[in-house]
Amino acid sequence: MRLLTIACLSLFALGAQAEEPWGKVDLDAAKPLHEKACQSCHIRMYGGDGSKMYSRDGRMLSNKLELLQRVASCNAMVSSGWFPEEEGNVAAWLNKHYYRFEN
Ligand code: HEC
Repeated sequence: MRLLTIACLSLFALGAQAEEPWGKVDLDAAKPLHEKACQSCHIRMYGGDGSKMYSRDGRMLSNKLELLQRVASCNAMVSSGWFPEEEGNVAAWLNKHYYRFEN
């Protein structure tokens, strides 16, 4: 029994370590949010689908936390009124499709 407890605790510790800055997310919710509030302005700057913003040379971000903060500040700038969960959804979605930060 004690062994089992220890095993569970160490699993928990591992899980906690791997936790994302955005917590649990709903990736399916992110795409429409991003299209609605974010894409047009990036398209105006970079053309195409605007995603060059996220893959351009000299992009500003280098990890997940910075990505989440950037999403939050762009969100504040455009007053789209997202909840923090929605910012998290979009940050995680951007990471999955464009940034691919491991940390
Ligand atoms: C009014 C125009 C505008 C809107 C709307 C906008 N952005 Fe941006 N975004 C910018 C500009 C300008 C930059 C680049 C800033 C720079 O180069 O210093 C940027 C940069 C970014 C970056 C960093 C790109 C990099 O260098 O890696 C992310 C991430 C981002 N925006 C996400 C979002 C999200 C998410 C939304 C929707 C909530 C959004 N943006 C809406 C103008 C906009």
